[in-house]
Parts: sequence; structure tokens; C-alpha cells
Amino acid sequence: MRKAKVALVGLGGWGGEQSLPALGECETVELVSWYDANPAIVEDRRPMIAAPPAGSYDELLDNEEVEGIILIVPNHIHKQLTVQAAGRGKHVWIEKPIANTVAEADDLISACEDAGVILQIGHSLRRAPAMRLMKKMIGEGKIGELATLEAHQSHRGGWALDSTMWRWYRDRCPGGPLNLLGIHQIDNMNYLLGGAEEVTAMASKRVLECEIDEIFQVVIRFSNGVLGSVSDTYITPGKTFIAAYGTTGWIEYNSLTNVLTLFDIEGVPQQIEVEKINLIADEFKEFGECIVTGKRPETGGPEGRAAVAIMEAAIESARTGKTVKL
Ligand SMILES: NC(=O)c1ccc[n+]([C@@H]2O[C@H](COP(=O)([O-])OP(=O)(O)OC[C@H]3O[C@@H](n4cnc5c(N)ncnc54)[C@H](O)[C@@H]3O)[C@@H](O)[C@H]2O)c1
Repeated sequence: MRKAKVALVGLGGWGGEQSLPALGECETVELVSWYDANPAIVEDRRPMIAAPPAGSYDELLDNEEVEGIILIVPNHIHKQLTVQAAGRGKHVWIEKPIANTVAEADDLISACEDAGVILQIGHSLRRAPAMRLMKKMIGEGKIGELATLEAHQSHRGGWALDSTMWRWYRDRCPGGPLNLLGIHQIDNMNYLLGGAEEVTAMASKRVLECEIDEIFQVVIRFSNGVLGSVSDTYITPGKTFIAAYGTTGWIEYNSLTNVLTLFDIEGVPQQIEVEKINLIADEFKEFGECIVTGKRPETGGPEGRAAVAIMEAAIESARTGKTVKL
């Protein structure tokens, strides 16, 4: 299979630190150009990248060699940059979340559908071999009837915030840590189960001066009666964990240590060997395949929208104190 020709947009944070090296590991895509709106970032990254940068986003979209755009930019501009790219016939890959609201997600999904281009959303955690195995084990009844899912995802990123950053502000990062971290676990729950029906949440501030909340607790009711809870903060040490509890046992997965453990009906643990892969390179590999073959990505517009619908409902529930039906 030939390599798809892609351009990377937004290299200041995650884009330069994680996406760029992951692209280098990926055999289905070739980086042919790139762009960042901050000239200092362009100068900083220039020596590391063989491909030439574009002088503007418009210039990048004018480049006929570029088939797909990979957006690693602030969430509040996902819609605008996607609509522009789709309008110029470019396939689009967006870091999670698809957008800050369902309305924005719908607009950018429609733009991609109208243009007939691929849209892929970077919900990477479900791609971990341990998550694939957890889903298989639940399906095989290894823990009996599923009763509840529990996830936690936090790190101390909030301590580094200042008022020049988009993450500081509620309008650019509604949901705070839920938007940045918890959304990964929301997608994990949609992957394991799906069919969310209603959401109840609380949010809180304790120590930071930023506008966004620092702590979120979310409860999701799924259509089969299973309840899921997602907790996260932007102020406590790194932890990324999900567990599935059933009538005859439970399974826990710690993403940071890549340890998957099955507990039997007596609570006796059995650690299960799982492979560790570069989740981002795996996502980009699929994007390249989708561009070349026309296949649909695993996490496209509908999956990105489903995660944001839960996030948006949680933010509304936290604000109003009421349960929100999806
Ligand atoms: N998958 C993950 O675990 C993960 C982790 C961190 C961030 N992210 C996602 O990555 C995205 C970017 O986050 P970040 O932490 O890198 O943010 P950041 O603020 O550190 O970097 C964003 C970059 O985008 C550039 N930029 C801003 N507006 C632009 C525009 N109009 N055109 C081109 N470039 C522009 C900025 O100059 C900056 O270099 C967000 O969607 C975020 O949710 C995902």
C-alpha cells in the first residue's frame, strides 16, 4: 500500500512532543508539510522536520500534495479548521475531543460528510491491547453479568496553567479536566458498552486560580442498567485507570503501568500479560489506511460526538444540579 501524504498542524504541545515522533513510527503516512500559528514554534521545530513548513493554514490547504490534515490544536478551533480543510477536499484527523459541544461536532461532521472526506478522532486509549482484551473478556462472561464501570484519570497539569493558555478559560475548555482527561475514559466506556442514556455530575474548585473546574465526578447510566463513574482532576498526581465489575469478578487496567488484572469471585487476583503499543502511531496508521483505501475509521464523527454528548451533559448537570437525559 502506498503512503498517504499528510500535514501536521499545531506542534507547540502534544503535536510536537507526541504526534510528530509517532508519525515517524508510522509506515502508512508520510509527513509532507506542517504548520503552527506561532512563529516561535515553527522556528523551534524546523530543525527536527525534513518536510517544509507552510507559511499559513491557507497555504497548507492549497498544497495539492497534502491529502490529510492532522489537527493538534486547541479544542475551540477544531470546528473552524476542520470545516476549512474539508472544504478544500482534505481528509481530517482531530485530537480528542472532536469539539467542545455537540453543536460544533455536528457542524464539522456535516462539513466532512458533504465533502466526502474521512474524519477520524483521536480517541487513543481504547486501542491499548489491554482494553481490547478487557472488552473481549467481558463479552465472554469472564466476570459474569457486568454491573458497573469505574474510571479515574488525573494529572497535575493544572498547576502549570497561566492565563495565556486556552485551558485556563471555561469558554475554550469547558469541563476542564473532563474535557482534557476524563473524555478518554468516557470513550473507553462507550467502547466497552455504549448506549449511554443519562448523566449526573458534580464539579469543584479547590486550589487553582484558573476559570476551569479542577475536579469532576460523573455518573453515566447505560441502557442495559450498567452504571459508569468517571472521576478526574487537574491537580493530583498522574493516574489512569479503568475497572469493570461483574457478578463473578472484576477486571482492572492501569494504563500508566500497563497492568491488567482479573479478580475472581473470591477476589483473588491474576495478572494478565498485555502488549504495550504506541497508541498514537496506531491511530495514524489507521488514518493512512483510511485515506488510501476509503475505509471508515474506528473512531470517526459518531464516536467523537457520542463522547462529547456525555461531556456536555455532565457539564450541564454540574451547573444545574440535575440529571441530564441524552
Ligand atoms: N491524546 C492526548 O492524551 C492529548 C494530550 C494533550 C493534548 N491533546 C489534545 O491536543 C490538542 C492540542 O493540545 P496541546 O496540549 O498540544 O495544546 P497547546 O496549546 O500546547 O498547543 C497547541 C498548538 O496549536 C497552535 N495553534 C493554535 N491555533 C492555531 C491555528 N489557528 N493554526 C495553527 N496552529 C495553531 C499553537 O501555536 C500551539 O503550538 C487538543 O485538542 C488537546 O485536547 C490530547
